[in-house]
Amino acid sequence: MSDKRTSIHGQWSSRFIFILAAIGSAVGLGNIWKFPYISGENGGGAFVLVYLVCIALIGVPIMIAEILLGRRGRQSPINTMRALVEDEGAHRAWSLLGWGGVITGFLILSYYSVIAGWALAYVFRTAAGSFTGASAETVSALFDGLLASPGSILMWHSLFMVMTMFVVARGVRGGLEKAVTVLMPALFLLLLVMVGYAMTLGAFSEGLAFLFSPNFDKVFYDCALDAAGGEACHFTGEPMLIALGHAFFTLSLGMGAIMVYGSYMPSGASIARATFAIVVADTVVALLAGMAIFPIVFANGLEPAAGPGLIFQTLPIAFGAMPAGQLFGTLFFILLVFAAWSSAISLIEPAVAWLVENHGMKRIPAAVFLGILAWLLGIGSVLSFNVLSGEEFQLFGKTVFDLLDYLTANILLPLGGLFIALFTGWVMSRAASVDELGMGEGIGYKTWWLLVRFVSPLLVLVVFFNAIGVI
Ligand code: TRP
Repeated sequence: MSDKRTSIHGQWSSRFIFILAAIGSAVGLGNIWKFPYISGENGGGAFVLVYLVCIALIGVPIMIAEILLGRRGRQSPINTMRALVEDEGAHRAWSLLGWGGVITGFLILSYYSVIAGWALAYVFRTAAGSFTGASAETVSALFDGLLASPGSILMWHSLFMVMTMFVVARGVRGGLEKAVTVLMPALFLLLLVMVGYAMTLGAFSEGLAFLFSPNFDKVFYDCALDAAGGEACHFTGEPMLIALGHAFFTLSLGMGAIMVYGSYMPSGASIARATFAIVVADTVVALLAGMAIFPIVFANGLEPAAGPGLIFQTLPIAFGAMPAGQLFGTLFFILLVFAAWSSAISLIEPAVAWLVENHGMKRIPAAVFLGILAWLLGIGSVLSFNVLSGEEFQLFGKTVFDLLDYLTANILLPLGGLFIALFTGWVMSRAASVDELGMGEGIGYKTWWLLVRFVSPLLVLVVFFNAIGVI
């Protein structure tokens, strides 16, 4: 019987550790680096609202589904899907879900490591006092200097990849379990300090208004100045797709990371309650990051739509100006690196678990092998900000980094999530999901079932077709 499976990779020592590990995976660069900059690029409030709706109606039910599948299969996502397909007598094509996830995770890790490398560089820059008393211009110039130097970005990218593979090689449940217990709450506290500092700036309310007061024109219309200097606007579904994609990205959904963590979850622990804790923690961290950053943006007359450099061009101004900023800043970037670290390992864990299961590989060679591949691919992203940033090296107006980010976050993750929802809602027997969720068949179960069967898949499809311009 399927619920008697056990994982050959072991189990989390408790339900609490599962929640912490999943929070470690979810809370990362997505919350602190990506959420503020895509909110800035897509006009703020309305985008944030669409993102929150996606979290509630799509993220929550699909996270429950993904953990459920993992815990029922108790193997790497590829083999979990294979086993569940057999249990349910489903078509073999569903196993592709596991494969798609492994590839997606690998692609994400390649550029994730590059951005985490920037954070590493900023630990040392802040500690060295480079930002003390620095003006907005100096801070921006320092960031541009980093981007212009492929050699140093490559070095930080390499260091971060080595750190990630080190943990993965030792087994995700080692050391990091403990680190996450202390460091995640510390990051949270430091974000509160930053928001406290932002409150002292004259632009605090302007920052909040940008983040929380919705102006739907910004989400639905793409406006540009035309030749005559007037504004020409056309309808666009793209910001909605970006909000949807980010809901998946920030919750680590749609590629098997949460599935593989679920496969190490003790039976009997409540999946719905764990999901609730993970989603709340992740969302609060993202909103706090936004509340810390936008007041700094407006207080210094900066551009909210500055792009991927946003946090690196704003937070150092605050660290440079506030009391004990050098200390707080260094700590902040250290914690950001840890947050990224505990996320990065979950991106590659599905692939490592599979190599161990199917090819009898030991964890160490499996991790080294995959790490080298992801590192090599990451060089494309390293060069996207300098040598290969020119238009002649772009495809659809996007650099290698932009393409990887767009393809994975906005297309592959929502597609993976769609199929996870469809499999759990339509293919898996009701008895199996009732049994695994262990919360009876009351209103909680029925709500989830409706969401995962109809609402989430339909919403994902609507946003997709809307973005392509079909509806
Ligand atoms: N959620 C992480 C972040 O916000 C990134 C991440 C880790 C991820 N594992 C994932 C994204 C799996 C998608 C899928 O930084």
